[in-house]
Amino acid sequence: MALFRALVLFFFFFFLTNVSLLLNFTNAEDPFAFYNFEVTYLTASPLGVPQQVIAINGKFPGPTINVTTNNNVVVNVRNKLDENLLLHWSGVQQRRSSWQDGVLGTNCPIPPKWNWTYQFQVKDQIGSFFYFPSLNMQRAAGGFGGFIINNRPIIPIPFDTPHGDIVIMIGDWYTRNHTDLRKDLDAGKDLGMPDGVLINGKGPYRYNDTLVPDGIDFEQFDVHPGKTYRLRVHNVGVSTSLNFRIQSHNLLLAESEGSYTVQQNYTSLDIHVGQSYSFLVTMDQNASSDYYIVASARFVNESRWQRVTGVGILRYTNSKGKAHGPLPPPPDDEFDKTFSMNQARSIRWNVSASGARPNPQGSFRYGSINVTEIYVLRNKPREKINGKNRATLSGISFVNPSTPIRLADKYKLKGVYKLDFPTNPITGPPQAKTSVINGTYRGFMEIILQNNDTKMHSYHLDGYAFFVVGMDYGEWTNNSRGTYNKWDGIARTTAQVYPGAWTAILVSLDNVGVWNLRTENLDNWYLGQETYIRVVNPEANNKTELPMPDNALFCGALGKLQKPQDISAGASIGKNTVKLLFTWLVFVCALIPIF
Ligand SMILES: *[C@@H]1O[C@H](CO)[C@@H](O)[C@H](O)[C@H]1NC(C)=O
Ligand SMILES: *[C@@H]1O[C@H](CO)[C@@H](O)[C@H](O)[C@H]1NC(C)=O
Ligand SMILES: *[C@@H]1O[C@H](CO)[C@@H](O)[C@H](O)[C@H]1NC(C)=O
Ligand SMILES: *[C@@H]1O[C@H](CO)[C@@H](O)[C@H](O)[C@H]1NC(C)=O
Ligand SMILES: *[C@@H]1O[C@H](CO)[C@@H](O)[C@H](O)[C@H]1NC(C)=O
Ligand SMILES: *[C@@H]1O[C@H](CO)[C@@H](O)[C@H](O)[C@H]1NC(C)=O
Ligand SMILES: *[C@@H]1O[C@H](CO)[C@@H](O)[C@H](O)[C@H]1NC(C)=O
Ligand SMILES: *[C@@H]1O[C@H](CO)[C@@H](O)[C@H](O)[C@H]1NC(C)=O
Ligand SMILES: *[C@@H]1O[C@H](CO)[C@@H](O)[C@H](O)[C@H]1NC(C)=O
Ligand SMILES: *[C@@H]1O[C@H](CO)[C@@H](O)[C@H](O)[C@H]1NC(C)=O
Ligand SMILES: *[C@@H]1O[C@H](CO)[C@@H](O)[C@H](O)[C@H]1NC(C)=O
Ligand SMILES: *[C@@H]1O[C@H](CO)[C@@H](O)[C@H](O)[C@H]1NC(C)=O
Repeated sequence: MALFRALVLFFFFFFLTNVSLLLNFTNAEDPFAFYNFEVTYLTASPLGVPQQVIAINGKFPGPTINVTTNNNVVVNVRNKLDENLLLHWSGVQQRRSSWQDGVLGTNCPIPPKWNWTYQFQVKDQIGSFFYFPSLNMQRAAGGFGGFIINNRPIIPIPFDTPHGDIVIMIGDWYTRNHTDLRKDLDAGKDLGMPDGVLINGKGPYRYNDTLVPDGIDFEQFDVHPGKTYRLRVHNVGVSTSLNFRIQSHNLLLAESEGSYTVQQNYTSLDIHVGQSYSFLVTMDQNASSDYYIVASARFVNESRWQRVTGVGILRYTNSKGKAHGPLPPPPDDEFDKTFSMNQARSIRWNVSASGARPNPQGSFRYGSINVTEIYVLRNKPREKINGKNRATLSGISFVNPSTPIRLADKYKLKGVYKLDFPTNPITGPPQAKTSVINGTYRGFMEIILQNNDTKMHSYHLDGYAFFVVGMDYGEWTNNSRGTYNKWDGIARTTAQVYPGAWTAILVSLDNVGVWNLRTENLDNWYLGQETYIRVVNPEANNKTELPMPDNALFCGALGKLQKPQDISAGASIGKNTVKLLFTWLVFVCALIPIF
């Protein structure tokens, strides 16, 4: 009986949820959380058209990783797709270990049928993030899921503990799969208008018989009247900025990508591609009916984009009927291009709230630190380089090296990349090359993102949270610094840059490694709108950067170092797991008296 119970408990812990228990590994003082991710294709019809989506453990979107600051996270990823794979943990800072970042600059891809185990510590961080497959437009087919880092129990959160925690992934969606989207881009075409917006992998509720076909599965959230929920909303789409709103409910903004914000109510908030927000939503309505949850395309011709609208349902347990009538309206600002930007500027850091540490977030006085290096990065509409359609940053379209930058450094390979990314956009014809930013360890970098494209962009930096200190329309000049917020600019990982406008960010380069800086717009990212910031501690040691993991994959010029993987096992239970299972059984049996 005890053994049976132990087995049940074991499977429950190991396969279904995260386990946070002390084990005798490295970093053993901090708890471990284990996950097994099997990445496969799955046929789904979110918009009524069957297509291959990317699922994790058979789920689309994938399971939520839910851990606590300083946990050691172990994710064994098995690639059952027919193409290379890397999972990237967007916004998770990978302190001292870009080895685990899951982008081509730091990791060799996981070949089909292989598995690779990520292991990293979610150090000094709290907040709402997400993971997704980083290669080849795969995110356009799914493979994403939530990634929550909870406060340690000793550190108070700056609001009452919510009654529930709800993860919401919103994003534009094409009924063409990622391989077809890639073909279009390779052929120099635009992707065109998306076919819809999904909420948690599901199509719109049929709020209008003309606009929404019959038989589409929609997302519904069941809630209790009077209770407050934390909604963690992520835009995981391809390139569309979305306005998020809930009929008759206020969204009390509480957190953005790892920082607690000054808490303010919004009736709707613009969420750009790659961005994450936590809202506290109190179920304070009379439940005379269900309520619409809407994610609609922003800055587009509403009448043409009407069918590209995500609609879900908020249902009170005492609801008296179905949601009906028109959707709550989007912001009425067709002729006011500063509305959305003013909303973005209103998102501020709560300097007195504790973050991952007990001391207030604002005790890091970023406004009084001297900038040591300045980069002005400018994008442009796509242009042709050597006859190919490419996207550029400062005139350079990034070419991924066949050997990851971090590995090339480790093995002292020359010529893989150049540390010559320019501090100002190049004049003259655009170039396609592997050009990387030379970051100075412990430097304080100012980056100006100037959007000279006609589309909205959001830019993301791996390895760090940066301070968003300013944004405005027009060209950035030295005088623009006078408008910077030097006190409570939000620290986050993904910042929007409006077309014809600039956004200025400040970042403290205290995390050694090679870190991706990219547009989150998948099409432009695929076409080269990215670079890396390389941050090296001249006194190399294992304190500021963790050693290369034992299981590191090799490729490119180092491909001959790679041992073949025994893929015959197929299933994710290998010899080692059995060994581990035994250890676990012993361990869990020892725990039985506690239960
Ligand atoms: C994507 O769709 C095309 C047909 O449009 C099909 O040939 C291809 O195999 C699909 N790719 C995947 C990965 O399912
Ligand atoms: C692949 O998974 C097995 C367990 O299923 C594990 O022992 C092995 O370390 C994994 N391989 C890598 C490279 O992470
Ligand atoms: C900021 O955080 C503090 C500390 O938790 C909290 O008491 C306060 O209400 C927050 N302020 C705002 C405006 O959100
Ligand atoms: C995450 O785990 C915490 C407890 O550790 C729980 O309260 C919360 O509901 C979980 N969130 C999700 C989305 O599973
Ligand atoms: C449904 O949408 C169409 C197209 O926008 C519109 O003409 C029609 O009035 C809507 N129907 C209802 C019942 O709102
Ligand atoms: C936000 O709106 C709710 C009602 O939905 C209200 O009770 C609350 O006081 C408001 N909070 C702030 C900070 O404005
Ligand atoms: C519930 O609220 C709606 C909208 O505020 C209102 O029209 C309706 O009369 C209310 N119903 C009841 C039963 O109070
Ligand atoms: C928006 O699209 C509709 C339908 O295609 C068109 O009639 C209208 O002129 C467009 N409006 C603008 C401002 O482009
Ligand atoms: C910043 O630079 C100014 C002069 O350029 C200097 O006086 C000041 O001490 C510096 N501050 C810090 C924190 O280094
Ligand atoms: C990179 O910057 C460091 C200072 O941080 C400098 O010593 C080094 O020469 C630079 N490397 C190149 C290639 O410019
Ligand atoms: C792009 O830059 C050019 C030259 O500075 C300027 O004339 C144009 O208005 C800019 N366009 C946008 C959308 O920023
Ligand atoms: C870092 O750790 C690795 C393996 O644990 C070891 O081989 C190496 O010598 C260490 N390097 C330094 C500079 O301590």
